[in-house]
Amino acid sequence: MPDEAMATDSEVRVRRIATACGVEIDGIDLTQPLSNSTFSAIETAFVEHEVLVFRDQEISTEDQKTFGRRFGDLTVHPFAPSSGDAPELIVFDNDADNPPWGTDVWHSDETFRAEPPLGTMLRALIVPDYGGDTLFTSMSAAYEGLSDRMQQFISGLEAVHDFKPFRNLFESDPASREKLRAFEDRYPPVSHPVVRAHPVSGRKVLFVNPQFTLAIKGMDEDESQALLKLLFHQAEIPEYQYRHRWAPNTMVLWDNRSVQHYAIHDYFPKRRKLERITIKGDRPFSSDPVVDIAVVRSRKGSRAISDAHGGHTPKET
Ligand SMILES: [Fe+2]
Repeated sequence: MPDEAMATDSEVRVRRIATACGVEIDGIDLTQPLSNSTFSAIETAFVEHEVLVFRDQEISTEDQKTFGRRFGDLTVHPFAPSSGDAPELIVFDNDADNPPWGTDVWHSDETFRAEPPLGTMLRALIVPDYGGDTLFTSMSAAYEGLSDRMQQFISGLEAVHDFKPFRNLFESDPASREKLRAFEDRYPPVSHPVVRAHPVSGRKVLFVNPQFTLAIKGMDEDESQALLKLLFHQAEIPEYQYRHRWAPNTMVLWDNRSVQHYAIHDYFPKRRKLERITIKGDRPFSSDPVVDIAVVRSRKGSRAISDAHGGHTPKET
């Protein structure tokens, strides 16, 4: 594929800005309705390049939502505060009085859901002179970077995901505990394949992240943690990354099925304001047969992880 601008449509220009993921999309105006052919060119670039950057888009929140809805329904984050009249919108407005929280860790958004988002769209309104960049990493490149042996080993494994960091949002008083229990009922720990198949491209994607992934099913906890540590590290490898520097009126859309991101917290106490919308996804699936956990468990006996929280079954005495 050529590295320079690639004409894909009479209007849309796609320009690569990093090796593993990331392109800039030029030649469109998101205040105007997009033709089907224009949208189709953008959608193709989205699946192929995983992170799309739109610069100099002086658009409204409504324009952003309208564009997002071309990809699918918008969803409401269960834990992020949102206003009553715009529940799909999350506003990150951080400064000295409201320090950033909880996104300086590699993750895909909301993998604690049975159907994690297809994509996330973030638009910058106010940014510091420097700092506050967002890192993206291609988890399809991260998968391809594993040895054949490791790819074989993790093929068919499943991992347990949980909304663990958001538990810190709840106080210890009875009313807050009750609220937390209601969330636990609504969002119980969920299993996803460690290697998911991208539903459009079919590419294999490493789909575990340190923010939400608790354990590999069917493994001893020590084994599970050692393997997860190794797999989490894949996201940290610079060759798979694109580092995005924000400017006002820049919008980024990433394929949450195949990309992880990390919001760098180096701008406090300066102000940074962005608006996010999230696009509904589908249930992750694997193109490989799932490993028969019962067989694994019979080998490991009572030390195998048996519950969704990744704990041990009691040892027989
Ligand atoms: Fe995120």
